Amino acid sequence: MKQNVVLGVTGGIACYKAAEIVSRLAKQDINVDVIMTENACRFVGPATFQTLSKNPVVTDTFASPKYWEVEHIALSKKADVFLIAPATADIIGKIASGIADDMLSTTVMAVAPEKVVLAPAMNVNMYNNPIVQGNIEKLRGLGYRFIEPGEGLLACGDTGRGRMAEPAEIEAYVMNLLGNSAAAGPAAGEDGGTADPVGDFAGKRILVTAGPTVEDIDPVRYISNRSSGKMGFAIAEAARRRGAQVTLVAGPVQLTCHEDIRRLNVRSTKDMLAACESVYDDVDIVIKAAAPADFYVVNGSEHKIKKQDGKAMQLELAENPDIIATLGKKKGNRILVGFAAETRNLEEYAKAKMERKNLDMIVANNVAQEGAGFDRDTNIVTIIKRSGEMERFEQMKKTDVADLILDQILLLKK
Ligand code: PMT
Repeated sequence: MKQNVVLGVTGGIACYKAAEIVSRLAKQDINVDVIMTENACRFVGPATFQTLSKNPVVTDTFASPKYWEVEHIALSKKADVFLIAPATADIIGKIASGIADDMLSTTVMAVAPEKVVLAPAMNVNMYNNPIVQGNIEKLRGLGYRFIEPGEGLLACGDTGRGRMAEPAEIEAYVMNLLGNSAAAGPAAGEDGGTADPVGDFAGKRILVTAGPTVEDIDPVRYISNRSSGKMGFAIAEAARRRGAQVTLVAGPVQLTCHEDIRRLNVRSTKDMLAACESVYDDVDIVIKAAAPADFYVVNGSEHKIKKQDGKAMQLELAENPDIIATLGKKKGNRILVGFAAETRNLEEYAKAKMERKNLDMIVANNVAQEGAGFDRDTNIVTIIKRSGEMERFEQMKKTDVADLILDQILLLKK
């Protein structure tokens, strides 16, 4: 049976991102019912949400109060998760004050707080207003959940916290709340006709990352790198074939994967971190083959940047979080495997990365070497373990490197 998300959309420029959330959840086979406030309908037409969700959209525009007084109960009962994105100061204030005066506020009032997730989006000064912060605190105290807005240039021209979290982050949060097994399909031994997986990774839950990440400069330009995702996808596929339950967090790539692999698509490095963190509690092994962008653009623009009569343009870059190092700080009993993409001093730099990021094993590849690295079907790797063991391997297909890495993980002494 499909799981159900009810998405409340309130009026703000971030409404267009809510459409992407519906599309992402629908791809994860989640049924989405959308309730739009009258103000939300001024930003994006209900037809967009109807097309993406394949469900009628509930609005107040033509409905009488009598209609929503009755209908709201059906949707409130249906919601496994009740998401409000974007959530304006207005809806946060209404919920905190117990005001139910339209379809959305009436429906959410009938839902248990733990099922409700709000993704605020508003001007930085509004967000920092003590009344709004007080409402958020009050709701948190009652069990309502919040996905923090990000910092950056806001639609109003101000800079600061208030930009709604990215759709990938919201998708990952909701999927995690719904329980990962729902999206991964029936697990071994559960109903659903899947036979027990046979293989040396049966019972293991593996998180693999693959591909590049992309940092936007403006709506038409971005910075990224040459990763194709082939290495990471090969590892995910080999792990699945050998019986593991695999989650693949993938940057924008042109590859497809087996339907038994749970795939979370992301765009930026921060999206990738959020997706990894959302599943981290439920994995035993992490293999980080992705090439995340190390920097993001601080002075990006929401509109296409125009040329300025030959004048130079400065892009300001700031460091992105290091995903595997962040995970390494709360490693627990997990096995963490990283890659090192170097063009010189391969082994020395790789060992230093393994130490710094708290890894059990690192797969070093010289990306300047013929037959190795980005966007090829082959690789040449050196595997270095925390124990000090190191082995250099000949050029081989990335599909074989994938099995080699899994073999080496099984040999790790814990
Ligand atoms: O995708 P393909 O075209 O098949 O190419 C494969 C590959 C060359 C991308 C792959 O073999 C590889 O080397 N991946 C790691 C690329 C990389 O980012 O290397 P790094 O040395 O900069 O980073 C070291 C480790 O930290 C990596 O595991 C990386 O995923 C991780 N990292 C890096 C930056 C960051 N912000 N967060 C991270 O977690």
